[in-house]
Amino acid sequence: MSDDGKMTGLQQGLTNYGDKDFSLYLRRSFAKSMGYSDEMLDRPIVGIINTASGYNNCHRGMPELVEAVKRGVLMRGGLPIDFPTISLGEVFLNPTSLMFRNLMAMDTEEMIRAQPMDAVVMIGGCDKTVPAQLMGAASADLPTIQLIVGPMMTGRYEGERLGACTDCRRFWADFRAGRVGESQIAAIEGNLATTMGTCAVMGTASTMACIAETLGMTLPGTAAIPAVHADRLRAAEATGAQALATARLGLTPAKLITEKSVENALRVLLALGGSTNGILHLTAIAGRRGVKISLERLNELSDTTPVLINLKPTGVGYMEDFHTAGAMGALLRELEPLLHLDCPTVTGETLGDRLKAAPGFVDRTIIRPRDDGFEDVGGLVALFGNLAPGGAILKRSAADPTLFEATGRAVVFTSLEDLAERIDAEDLDVKADDILVLQNAGPKSPSGMPEAGYIPIPKKLAQAGVKDMIRISDCRMSGTAFGTIVLHVTPEAAVGGAIGLVKNGDEIRLSIANKTLELLVDNAELKRRRQANPPQPATPTRGYAKLYADHVTQADQGADFDFLMAQD
Ligand code: FES
Repeated sequence: MSDDGKMTGLQQGLTNYGDKDFSLYLRRSFAKSMGYSDEMLDRPIVGIINTASGYNNCHRGMPELVEAVKRGVLMRGGLPIDFPTISLGEVFLNPTSLMFRNLMAMDTEEMIRAQPMDAVVMIGGCDKTVPAQLMGAASADLPTIQLIVGPMMTGRYEGERLGACTDCRRFWADFRAGRVGESQIAAIEGNLATTMGTCAVMGTASTMACIAETLGMTLPGTAAIPAVHADRLRAAEATGAQALATARLGLTPAKLITEKSVENALRVLLALGGSTNGILHLTAIAGRRGVKISLERLNELSDTTPVLINLKPTGVGYMEDFHTAGAMGALLRELEPLLHLDCPTVTGETLGDRLKAAPGFVDRTIIRPRDDGFEDVGGLVALFGNLAPGGAILKRSAADPTLFEATGRAVVFTSLEDLAERIDAEDLDVKADDILVLQNAGPKSPSGMPEAGYIPIPKKLAQAGVKDMIRISDCRMSGTAFGTIVLHVTPEAAVGGAIGLVKNGDEIRLSIANKTLELLVDNAELKRRRQANPPQPATPTRGYAKLYADHVTQADQGADFDFLMAQD
C-alpha cells in the first residue's frame, strides 16, 4: 500500500468475485504460475505496452526494447509486466490505418485501466501508433511515459542515399513518367527500407515522435535516436527506470497535455515542416483532455514560426542527420523564446529546465538558427472559404510557391475508384494549370480518410514534364509526400460539404497570402446542386466499421470518436 493509502501493485483493480480477499489470493496464485516470487509480487508494477507485430516492420526492434525497459524497471525496484495491444503497421492495413487509430486508442486506454499497474511505458513508433497511444493514455490518465521505436537508417542505390518514403514517391513518379525503368524500380524497391524503425524522413511517425517529446511525454533527447542505435536501448532502459519516479510525482497525462504544451507542440510541428497528419493527431490527443485547437490559432502561430529543419520531404536530410545534428534539444533551444517553458514533463523537470542542459554540437546545415530559418513562416497553413468553411490544410513548405496564388479549372474525380480508373486515361481533359479535385474520401466516406490526397499527376502531363499541380481533397496525405496539395477539406463531401458539389470546369481560387480556398460558383447554383445530389456517407451495418462511421468526427476535430473526446 502506498503512503496515501492507495492500493498498488497486484492489489489494485481486483477482478470482481464479490470477495476482495479471495480475488487477491486467486490473482497471486495465478501470477505465481508464471514463476514470480512473493518479493516480486509485492513490488509496484510498471505495465509495458508491447506493440510487436509481424504486420509492423517499423516495430521489429520491439523485443529488445521491451527487455531494456524491463531492466530499467527492475533496477528501480518495480515489477515490469509487458502486455500487447493491437499494432498498426501503416502499409499493411485496409482501407487505411487511420480507421484503426481510434481502435488502438481504445485498446490502449482500456488495457491500462483494466489491468493492475502503477505506471505504464508505451512503446510505439509507426504513424498511427504514437497518437493512438497518447490518446488512450490521455483518457486513462495513469502515470505514463512513451518510448519511441526510432527511425530507420537510409539505404543506397547506385551511390544515391535513399530513405522511406519521400524517395519511394519520387522514384515512383519517375517510373510513371518513364524516366525510370522496370528493372531499376525493382532494385530501388529493395533499397528504400533496409533497417527496422520508422520512415527515415520527417514524415508522420517522426513528426509525432517530436510532438511526444515536446509534450513532455518522453525522456528528453529520445525522439530521433535511430532504431538500430545502441542509444535507443539505453533510452529504453532509462525510460523503464523513470516510470515509478513519474508515478511517485503523480505526473499523469492530464498534468502534461495542457493548452500550453499543445501550443508548444504546434510550434514544433510548424518549425519541423512536419506532417499534415500531425495537426489531425495533435487535435485528437488534445481533445482527449478538453484542449481545443483552432485552425485560426494555427495560422497565427504559423506566421511567427520559421521552418528550421532541413529534412525531407521539405528539405534534404534524413532523421539520422537530425539525430546527429542535435535533435529536439537543439530545435527547442532555437524556439525557446516562443515556447511556454513552465510546462512539466515526465521527469518532473519543466521544459525550461530541460533546455538548461549544455547544448552540445549543432549541425547548422540541418537545424538552423531562429533568425535564419529555411522558411520565414511555418510549414503548415490553414485555408478557409466557401469550399472549406471548417478549414483545410496545406503544407506550404513542401509545395511549389509559384502555385500559391492561382485560379484554375476543376478536374473532378468523384471517388478513389473514379480516380484510379481515369487519372491516366489518354482522353482525360486536363491541363497543367488545372486543379485536380478528389471527392468522397473524408472520414465518413467509405474509404475512411486515406492518404490519397497525393493525387498522381495525370500520366500524360507527367510524361510531358509536369511535376506539381494544385490538388484538393477531403482526405489526407502521407507525411513523406510533397506537392501543392490541399487536404482535410472540412466539412467533407460525405456529410454535404461544398467539395462534393464541385463539377468539372468550375473555377477554384487558391490564395495562400489570404489563406483562402474559394469555389467560384454562386450560392443559388450550389443550393441547386446540393438538392440534386444529397451526400452519401458510408453506411456499414455491423462491427467496428459501423462504430467508426457512426461516431468519427470531422478533420477539424481530429477524426476522433465523439464519445471519446473530453466532455465539456
Ligand atoms: Fe511505419 Fe512509415 S511505415 S513509419
